[in-house]
This record gives sequence, C-alpha cells and structure tokens, in this order.
Amino acid sequence: MVRNTQVSLCGIKLKNPVMPASGVYGFGGEYRDFYDPNILGAVVLKGTTARPRFGNPTPRVAECTSGMLNSVGLQNPGIDAVISQELPRLREFYHGPVIANISGFSVEEYASCCGKIDGLVDIIEVNISCPNVERGGMGFGTDPELAAEVTRAAKGATAKTPVFVKLSPNVADITEIGIACQEAGADGLTLINTLLGMRIDIRTKTPVLANKIGGFSGSAIFPVALRMVYEVSRVVHIPVIGVGGISKAEDVIEMMMAGATAVQVGSENLRDPMACYRIIEKLPNLMEKLNIENLVDIINIAE
Ligand code: FUM
Repeated sequence: MVRNTQVSLCGIKLKNPVMPASGVYGFGGEYRDFYDPNILGAVVLKGTTARPRFGNPTPRVAECTSGMLNSVGLQNPGIDAVISQELPRLREFYHGPVIANISGFSVEEYASCCGKIDGLVDIIEVNISCPNVERGGMGFGTDPELAAEVTRAAKGATAKTPVFVKLSPNVADITEIGIACQEAGADGLTLINTLLGMRIDIRTKTPVLANKIGGFSGSAIFPVALRMVYEVSRVVHIPVIGVGGISKAEDVIEMMMAGATAVQVGSENLRDPMACYRIIEKLPNLMEKLNIENLVDIINIAE
C-alpha cells in the first residue's frame, strides 16, 4: 500500500512534514552537496533581521551531552539581501515551500521585515524566542501582551503570506503565549526554540560561550518540546509545527501524535547533515509498521 506523507499548513501542501529548523540550513545552498533539497517538506531560512548582523563574538557553540549550546546572535545579511540575493539563489534549485524566519528588536522592525517579504515566501515564521540577543528576541516571547503585539503588527503588515509565531520554552506556561498569539491573529505556531543553558570550562573557570549563556538544543530536549506541543495543541485551533530534539522518524510520529502538523529538525542536521534525508526516507516504512496509511490521521491523536 502507498503511504501518504502529505500534510498541509494553511492550505500550503507539503509532500512530507519534515523541514530543517531555522538556523541549521542557512539559506538553502549549504546542503546541496548532500542531497536534493526538493525532497524536503519545506525549507526554513536562517533568522533574518531588518539590517545585516555579524552576530555574537566566538565561541558561539558548545557541545553538551545529547545536545549543544549556541549563541550565534542572529548573524544574517539583512532582509533586503535575503530578498534580492538569497531567495532568488534558492529558487534556482529548490521549488518547494519556503518559510522565512523573521526576528526584530522592536515591534516596528518585525512589521517592516514581514511587510517586505509578504507574498515572496509561503509562510513567515515570526521568531519571538531567540535567546541570544540583548534586546528583542525572546523578550517578546515571554510576555503574552508583547507576543500579541508583535503578532498583530506582523499580521497588519502582511496580506498574502500566513504568519506563524515561534515560541520560547523559557516561560512558566507556554499555552498562555500560544493563546495570546492565536487571539492576535497568528495563522499558526512553531514551538519550541532553545532552552536557556550554559557551560563552564573547569580549567579556565570561565563560561565556554563568549556570550556566557546560550540556547540548548538537541535530542535531550525532545521530551520538553513534545510536552509543550501537546499542551499547546490542546488549547489552540491553529496548526502547530513541532521542533526540538527530533533526530529520527519515530520522533516525527510522536510529535505529530502530540499535535504537530509538521516538524522541524534542528541540531541533528549539524551532527548528521543527512538527517532530514534519513528521516524522510524512513517515514513510509515506519508508517507501514505502525499501520498508518495517511500521516494526517495521526495529528493530535494522543489522549
Ligand atoms: O542566535 C541565533 O541566531 C539563534 C536564533 C534563535 O534561536 O532563534
């Protein structure tokens, strides 16, 4: 029997639910030597800001058991270069859905970037959860009123492209933020971003990251992400993209059963550049074993 892996996000058809998370896939060209990106459900672009950013001082990454820390600091060429250079370059070899990830340091910056890229991509992911910048970023994602304000501004600046809001796990109650974004007009939610963490070099007695604190990701955070996707999916009616620690096809099934319509694979791509390929290839076999004919049938079925 043919196994149907197709899912749909706000009417946008994805051949399968698997896409790289923002930040691990650059602007699409980096993985071309490994596999054809057209196998992906979607491509998610590196977080983009109003102006070009060099990012944080190095070291920006640190290894951890079953995961990693990063404090990249939103390095990117800026929204104008993404639109004029990165997107056209990507379109030369990739023909599927594209998700742009937008960050900002003020509500106005979010609105301006969303307005500029409206209609040029399939989904705009408004990132209110970056933990690696002093102003903005996660500051907007940890307060329901600010989260709603950014969502309203992004929706007000766009007319063509659905707006998903990417939520932070660094809150007491993520459902509160999810509901606030939904009420402010979000078309969908992506969760979770990284958990705040740090490492100390015991020989130098100094933090490993130049920025001291960073975002923890990797398979260690999968149960946390799963729990949050489960909680949020039970209180919102808009689609949820699940992200956090996914490293194998089984995790995709589990995340969808928790409520995700699609999933993003983050740091596993940095450990194994073939991760998305491997997961997508395995999905039909696993569906057969689990007697799943259509992937959409398992979304949110966990009790
Ligand atoms: O530091 C960074 O560029 C990470 C962004 C994020 O986690 O959203």
